[in-house]
Amino acid sequence: MVLPNDANRLGNLLGGRLMHMMDIAAAIAASRHTNRVCVTASVDELHFHHPIRIGEVVILQASVNRAFHTSLEVGVRVTKEDLLTGKRTHTNSAYLTFVAIDEEGRPVPVPLIVPQTNEERRRYRDAARRRRQRLLHRGKR
Ligand SMILES: CC(C)(COP(=O)(O)OP(=O)(O)OC[C@H]1O[C@@H](n2cnc3c(N)ncnc32)[C@H](O)[C@@H]1OP(=O)(O)O)[C@@H](O)C(=O)NCCC(=O)NCCS
Repeated sequence: MVLPNDANRLGNLLGGRLMHMMDIAAAIAASRHTNRVCVTASVDELHFHHPIRIGEVVILQASVNRAFHTSLEVGVRVTKEDLLTGKRTHTNSAYLTFVAIDEEGRPVPVPLIVPQTNEERRRYRDAARRRRQRLLHRGKR
């Protein structure tokens, strides 16, 4: 639930606070899949479509879309819920890349993903396309 300490002077959840929650939700999904410490390597574009107000509930759903060699893509979907009306609104989504590391901080191979449903297969396919784009951008810096 968004509390006053999480909000700006308009009573809206701070963007940075939401990014923090998304990072943690994604890290949990990545660590559950790998049973490893996973660090955030990159976050794709993040757009805030709707403000989340004090008193509203933030629902974060994270899924591992695809594992590559030592990295994996996690998608996080954020929904806000008004407890008085029960209305839920999708506020934003993002794709984060995590890398599994060993005790020395070196990348280690991660278990593969075997998509089962149509939805999982779509996410799996799309993750490969997004990976090409982000590695292209990484190379430009
Ligand atoms: C992420 C990190 C472990 C990668 O280490 P590295 O020595 O650059 O490793 P490599 O170049 O061998 O890449 C390892 C994997 O990470 C992926 N990767 C590295 N940088 C990436 C980026 N910016 N975006 C997406 N994937 C990236 C590579 O594609 C590779 O994936 P693959 O094995 O599945 O093909 C290292 O850069 C690091 O520790 N960064 C700091 C992480 C951190 O502290 N995050 C918290 C926020 S500051």
